Parts: sequence; structure tokens; C-alpha cells
Amino acid sequence: MNKILVDKYGRKYQYLRISVTDRCNFKCKYCMPQHSFKMLSHNDILSYEDILFVVKTLAEVGIKKVRVTGGEPLVRKNITYLFRELGKIQGIQDITFTTNGSLLKKFAKDIYEAGVRRINISLDSLKKDRYEFITGGFDLEAIIDSIKYAKEVGFKPIKINVVAIKGFNDDEILDFCEFSAENDLNVRFIEFMPLESSMEWKKENIITGKEILEKISKKYELKHLEKENLSGPSDNYLLSNGAKIGIITPISNHFCATCDKLRLTADGKLRPCLLSDYEIDLKPAIINSDAELLLKLIQDSLHLKAEKHPVDCDLANKRFGRHMSEIGG
Ligand code: GTP
Ligand code: 5AD
Ligand code: SF4
Repeated sequence: MNKILVDKYGRKYQYLRISVTDRCNFKCKYCMPQHSFKMLSHNDILSYEDILFVVKTLAEVGIKKVRVTGGEPLVRKNITYLFRELGKIQGIQDITFTTNGSLLKKFAKDIYEAGVRRINISLDSLKKDRYEFITGGFDLEAIIDSIKYAKEVGFKPIKINVVAIKGFNDDEILDFCEFSAENDLNVRFIEFMPLESSMEWKKENIITGKEILEKISKKYELKHLEKENLSGPSDNYLLSNGAKIGIITPISNHFCATCDKLRLTADGKLRPCLLSDYEIDLKPAIINSDAELLLKLIQDSLHLKAEKHPVDCDLANKRFGRHMSEIGG
């Protein structure tokens, strides 16, 4: 068995995203379909012990960074326990999570005390009515308060994820640059991806990273920032007003050549690529705590992983098997 996970294109894997639940208290229109859909039952979901077994096994073959996602990860019962236990695993250097922010007042302090230091929060509009529309009725002010609270608790950096959608929030790009500078938050604009959702994905809805940078550069000077160790796919800039912004460009300029990421679904499937419907069931290995089988299943599946995802600005309607709220980004 290899000491590190490598695929046939030579990509080395060091980042594991763990979806701990497919449930979410929000209903973001770009993330969930409009129609009702089947949720996983309690019996399908990996226990925390199952997840910890996977992480311990993968830490021995080079996984160094873990991101907890959902659905909304903070809706899962006793989530602080998972963070505490992840922090004890040798070799894991970076533990973080992606959240809609709504439960931070309840959990931020405990999660910080469990050793987590940085978080990413989804916030797609700074306008009250738009925020309510996109999230399915949630209050913008309450979320901004929660973000401020997380800052007071000590999380740094706090990164704000903005899914950039033409005709929805593309007129707020400069507002987000000001918001970043005023509140010392890193704002990352993400190109809208075509997973099944209640918002139609079409060419006209895409605003590319390049277009975003062009808009910003009309008002501010941009200084390109070097990538930090273990950082994700965002390409980051410091603006002349002090804002830190980033672009994540899976559609116009994909970063698959440097993909270092595995995804574990809440029901124990490995997704080697976000934009693919290909998954491998890891439960047979997890249920028997069989580390050797687990690594074999993962390594075999990596040999089948495509060189890059199949979507670009001219081509959508691919099947991805799940919508984003079940994958966790
Ligand atoms: P940092 O470690 O903080 O840099 O974060 P990250 O960018 O890895 O994590 P985050 O969950 O905040 O990612 C932001 C969003 O970018 C995700 O929700 C996805 O929408 C998109 N994204 C992240 N990684 C990938 C990837 O590997 N492929 C694609 N297609 N999109 C990705
Ligand atoms: N395209 C791009 N990003 C998306 N996210 C959810 N759905 C999409 C999509 N269709 C992002 C959200 C959140 C993360 C979990 O996934 O911004 O930060
Ligand atoms: Fe990796 Fe797939 Fe994302 Fe490309 S689209 S970076 S291969 S997860």
C-alpha cells in the first residue's frame, strides 16, 4: 500500500471534506431543488466513531486538512464532540468547517475551545430582501451579528463564500469589497455550478472570476497574494481599500490539475470529484474497521478519477447524482 494517496495523473491527496449531514435549516435556491426530496435516514448516516476511523486511517496516508460540511454541519447533534476528537488525530494540521452561520451564537465558543480556529460562512447578499429570498426566509441582520460574534470568539480568518450569479447579486461585488475591508473578513466569489437546484443554471447566469476582477479593478488596485500552505482553490487578492477578496473559478478556469481533495458523504460514500456522479461505498470497510480495505477502495477509486470535471461555460446538464446540499460544496 502506498504511503500517500496518488491518482494516475500524479495528484496527491491531502484534503478531506466530510459531510456530516444532508440536512440544512436553510433552503438556498442555488443549492437545493425546489421539489421535496428524500433525506437520509438516521441508520444510513455514519456515526462520529465511523468518521473518526476514516480520518485516522487517512491521516496515515497524507491527509492533513479536514473540512466539516453538511447540509449545515451545526445541525448535527453533539457536533463539538467531533471537532474535539478530530483535534486529537495525529497528522491533521488544519480543521475547519463551512456553515451558513445561523447557529454560530450557539456553538462558536465550544467549537473554538475544541481547537478550531478558522471558518467559512456562506453569505450571498448584503441586501435584506435578497438574502431572505435566496435562503428561503432568513434574516440578514441575525447572520451578520453571528459573524461578528464568531470574530469576537477569536476565529481568524473568517472567509465569506459568495456564489456569484448574474442577475441576482452581480451588482453587489463592490459592496462585498467594502464589507470585507470594514469587517476584516476574506470574501470569496464562487462561480455558480450546475448541480440540480431551484435556480436554473444557464450560460447567461454565469459571472466569471475574470469579469469579477475587472469590475473590482475599476475601483481598486489589486495585489495578487501567494497561496498559503494547505489553502483551497481560491485565488486571492489584497485591494487598495484593505479588503481581501478571492475568486473560485470551477467553470471558467478549473483547478482540477491541482485537485488534492476527497469528499466523504454523510452516508459513507467517497466522491473523488465534486462534479461527477461517481461514488464508492466505503461502508463495508468502515463497518468492519478494516483500514486496509478502506485504503484499497479509496486508492482504486482514485485510479478511475477523471483528469478534470466535464463542465464549462458552454456545457451543462451533466448528472451529478446529488445536489450541493447533500455534498457540502
Ligand atoms: P479554504 O481551505 O478556506 O481555502 O476553503 P475551501 O475553498 O477549500 O472551502 P470552501 O468550503 O469554503 O469552498 C468554497 C466553495 O468553492 C465550495 O463550496 C465549492 O462551491 C467550491 N469548491 C471548493 N473546492 C472545490 C473543488 O474541488 N471543485 C469544485 N468544482 N469546486 C470547489
Ligand atoms: N455553485 C457554487 N457554489 C455552491 N455552493 C452551493 N451550491 C453551489 C453552486 N451551485 C456553495 C455555497 C456554500 C458551499 C457549501 O457551497 O456557497 O458556501
Ligand atoms: Fe477536483 Fe473535481 Fe473539483 Fe476538479 S471539479 S477540482 S477534479 S473536485
